[in-house]
Amino acid sequence: MCGIIGIVLRERGLLLKPLGTAIKECLKNLEYRGYDSVGFAILSNDGLVIRKSKGKIDDVTSKLSFDESDGVCGIGHTRWATHGKPSDVNAHPHIDCSGRIAVVHNGVIENYLEVREVLVGRGHEFKSETDTEVVAHLIEEYKKLGLKPYEAFKKAVSLLRGSYALSVLDLDEPSKIFFARNTSPLVIGIGEGVKFISSDIPAFLDYSRDVIVVQDYEVGYISRDVVVIEKLMDRNYEFDTNPPGTELVDHSSRVRHIDWTPEMARKGGYPHFMLKEIHEQPQAVTNTLISVPEELEETTKLVSKADRVLVVGSGTSYHASLIGGLLLNDIAGIKAHAVISSEMKWFINSVDEGDVVIAVSQSGETIDTLLALREAKRRGALTIALTNIIDSALARESHLTIYTRAGPEIGVAATKTFAAQVVTLTYMAIKLAERLRTAPEGRVSDLKSWLRELPNIMSAAISISESKVRALSGVTTIWRSIYYLGRGLGLPTSMEGALKLKEVAYIHAEAYPAGESKHGPIALVDDGFPVAFTILGGEVDLILSNVEEMRARGAWTLAVMPKGLERISRYFNYIFELHHLPYELTPAVYIIPYQLMAYYAAVARGYDPDKPRNLAKTVTVV
Ligand code: AGP
Repeated sequence: MCGIIGIVLRERGLLLKPLGTAIKECLKNLEYRGYDSVGFAILSNDGLVIRKSKGKIDDVTSKLSFDESDGVCGIGHTRWATHGKPSDVNAHPHIDCSGRIAVVHNGVIENYLEVREVLVGRGHEFKSETDTEVVAHLIEEYKKLGLKPYEAFKKAVSLLRGSYALSVLDLDEPSKIFFARNTSPLVIGIGEGVKFISSDIPAFLDYSRDVIVVQDYEVGYISRDVVVIEKLMDRNYEFDTNPPGTELVDHSSRVRHIDWTPEMARKGGYPHFMLKEIHEQPQAVTNTLISVPEELEETTKLVSKADRVLVVGSGTSYHASLIGGLLLNDIAGIKAHAVISSEMKWFINSVDEGDVVIAVSQSGETIDTLLALREAKRRGALTIALTNIIDSALARESHLTIYTRAGPEIGVAATKTFAAQVVTLTYMAIKLAERLRTAPEGRVSDLKSWLRELPNIMSAAISISESKVRALSGVTTIWRSIYYLGRGLGLPTSMEGALKLKEVAYIHAEAYPAGESKHGPIALVDDGFPVAFTILGGEVDLILSNVEEMRARGAWTLAVMPKGLERISRYFNYIFELHHLPYELTPAVYIIPYQLMAYYAAVARGYDPDKPRNLAKTVTVV
């Protein structure tokens, strides 16, 4: 939901390139957050230079002449439109009437209409349809009333309701970038002679790996010499000039060194991040399996005492939650349910101190998941975050945190983080079964040793699937709609496969429990209608009757299934045969052909799988 960047240099040219070029490169690393428009503002000798346009960075690079703009202080933005259609005028930065204040924003200012009305009444002229523009005019108004620029900024922020990560340049306090955060992510990067403020770490990995995560209701500024952070104490939303109460934050203990490398945030020879990240899954699982056992030691002790476990997530993270929920029941005998984050509201009345809520989120910032976690915590549940991002909002707000070690995921469609989430939840279920003695010892040690083999099995699945998927991409170009059917763990695996195809190839794909398909979905099936079956091993005969039902109506059938099931191969038009492994460990492997199928279908149809239309990597609006 928009990417923002701010850069302050100790001296011009320090990055060995014009500041505009550096901003463009940082924005490229943030483009997964939105790509409806792009813009930047730089404080130069001639004042505030602002350039912005509708479109993706590559398409507007020459129009915006990033490389010709230099200075020591600048901000940039890549947009995922919320208020106002994608257009040049709605692109960020937004400025005040005097043109001295430039603002970039990620989030939604909920009271913008009310504030706008007051400001219009005071003579301000608005140019865009965005909620963001009020921030620039509000700062201007407080300056007119006598406040200094930074004080005016703090005062303006104290009046805002909603979510925001803000980065602001003011010509009257040059060489500082003001920032503020509520709900939308914001991190500070500290490098040699350079400081950054950004929506996400990959933006500045080339220059800095020391970061401070800005927390909710913090405001401050970065300048060539210092980082200042203050906690905004009162948010009384009064339109007066009393300075808001703030407390200076000692942030020295909050500096974290990130072990991600700049290469991790580059395509490394792959045409797209999505393909690179599919291929990185074995490594993501290896790294996660190294770190997670220790982190799970304490967690499983607490989870083992729970009356009930709720595993909460959105999108792909919800599918991982479904797998986790099924395995906690199946392997560990724990009462567990997966809940879609935005639906948690309807479960919350029964949540109490006996519950454990595991919030699953790649970004750790998805607002639906965060709100679900907050409410569960308020009701006394023990909360655990499972996230890929250090110090993310979920990590900070939960009682305990488990980190997946997938490295930065840039492609909008989640792939390697799904594998890391699934493996972590699987390991958790195995540990719990061991602790609670709910599974025979032999089974536990068998699963553990298979888990160690998983990265190799995944690598093999990638090579087996890739050539078969390429051969299929001609067929996928004619698909308009497809069913993905599965039973047990095959259902969430199918759901994830369908989500991937929808997201990047824009093909309608619907996952359904195979046994339920005859209760309605089959009505759509006629000659050539594609149906993919996820067959994990134990449910072969049950699922076969569903395959027969579909074939009898003329369906074109595809199977993802274990090797060695020759007896059923004649039922399918296309088969992906994968390694045979324990049913409990199949999802992270059996999802691979579906991920690749989505990727190659997108490419065959001429779409950019890294930047699917209308989607953003991190969803910070409800
Ligand atoms: C997955 O491909 C999507 N990008 C989306 O469904 C995503 O999984 C969802 O928005 C949740 O994100 P999170 O894991 O960062 O919470």
